[in-house]
Amino acid sequence: MDMAKSREERDKGAHWLIDYITHLVADKRRTGATDGILAELIDKTDGESPDLTEKQLIGLGVLLLFAGHDTTAAMMGLSTLTLLTHHEQPEDMLAHPEKIGTTVEELMRYLTIVQFGLGRVAKVDLELAGAPIKKGDLVVVAMNAANRDPRAFQDPDAFDIDRKMARHMGFGYGVHQCLGQNVARAELKAVLPKLFQRFPNLRLATPLEEVPMDFTGTNYGVRKLMVTR
Ligand code: HEM
Repeated sequence: MDMAKSREERDKGAHWLIDYITHLVADKRRTGATDGILAELIDKTDGESPDLTEKQLIGLGVLLLFAGHDTTAAMMGLSTLTLLTHHEQPEDMLAHPEKIGTTVEELMRYLTIVQFGLGRVAKVDLELAGAPIKKGDLVVVAMNAANRDPRAFQDPDAFDIDRKMARHMGFGYGVHQCLGQNVARAELKAVLPKLFQRFPNLRLATPLEEVPMDFTGTNYGVRKLMVTR
């Protein structure tokens, strides 16, 4: 979602996405496709005693594309850029495959791609760090600030795949924290070592300052990553 666009244009984009998934569902029904998560969800909508309504089916389709694909794709581009600009770290990660878990967690913390924070509505009047918050107030939790908080992380602006860390907020916090986080972790753990094994001489083809970035969405990312191999 392009946050630089007007509310009207963003609504138009959201409707386009709903229409796209609606057509995709219709297409899968028409062809009787049985593969993939959407087909499974259709199965749960069309049965004798359905688990999902049509609206929930379309909503889940949109959510999976938006929350599940856009985020992970952005993380892959940014993670590659981060590893390429910290030269010793791809080699270190490859020489020690057991480090891939901490590498992915550190990338999640360091990059915090969901850039505008999490919105929560206060259910009761409360006070937080001296600030009064009224029932019904919108509170935005700045995850990127939390993930660089020097009280929680030593030398927080450093990227360190050996960092010992109990938790970060890259996948949110509390009951609504990311439902797909383990899928995202599995994808990153599979893709990143494979990329650097396949192209051990992978390097940026442009200076870092010239990598085109996109900060307009709810996630930020690279628009294009030019590399040499
Ligand atoms: C690196 C990739 C990902 C990042 C950075 C990410 C980040 C987030 C964040 C920050 C939230 C909000 C959590 C909160 O409000 O506390 C969230 C929610 C969610 N994510 Fe992810 N996510 C990723 C991948 C995925 C994937 C792969 C899926 C599904 C396959 C997914 C599905 C969801 C869903 C369904 C929610 C809503 C949970 C709820 O409101 O209860 N995410 N994600």
